Amino acid sequence: MSFREITIEELNVNPVTMFSEGWALLTAGDKSDFNAMTVSWGAIGEIWGKHSMFVFVRPQRYTHDYCEKSDLFTVSCFNSKCRKELSFFGSKSGRDYDKFKETGLTAAYDGDSVYCEDAEIVFICRKTAKTALQPDNFYSADIEGCYSAKDYHDIYVGEIVKILVKE
Ligand SMILES: Cc1cc2nc3c(=O)[nH]c(=O)nc-3n(C[C@H](O)[C@H](O)[C@H](O)COP(=O)(O)O)c2cc1C
Repeated sequence: MSFREITIEELNVNPVTMFSEGWALLTAGDKSDFNAMTVSWGAIGEIWGKHSMFVFVRPQRYTHDYCEKSDLFTVSCFNSKCRKELSFFGSKSGRDYDKFKETGLTAAYDGDSVYCEDAEIVFICRKTAKTALQPDNFYSADIEGCYSAKDYHDIYVGEIVKILVKE
């Protein structure tokens, strides 16, 4: 199973359902120490003249620690495949489990970044900014309902520096 690199112009996915239905693994760290968790909230777009990825990470996630200390993060998208494995990555913490070992998914490396070999599309991103969601700024009353523990997401923005698709 190999990947080939494509340009952003060649990317041919629905940017909403890629996350909401397809699910993805957010991975940060390096070859010697990394962690991954499932995400289904995210966005792709343009900011500061850079093709960019936006991921939403609650502060208590172990992956949050890795997003803090890593310059790079990756988003490995699955097109609804590997549901059982992604459910594990999305319900268990890397504090307690080696999630790759438990699920049989395979970590792969591109320079200093770590992604998932089993994915269909991989975005390698260089962290450019972080901002914290502030409840005072919610305009829609229903949003607060997502935060009974007041654990408002941090939004990490990363410049997309490489896109890999499964051949
Ligand atoms: C389908 C699905 C989507 C998820 N999306 C997110 C997300 O976008 N942001 C987030 O902070 N947690 C999300 N989670 C929860 C984390 O994946 C989960 O808490 C995970 O166990 C954290 O692992 P960690 O402690 O190893 O980082 C999602 C879980 C599932 C099952």
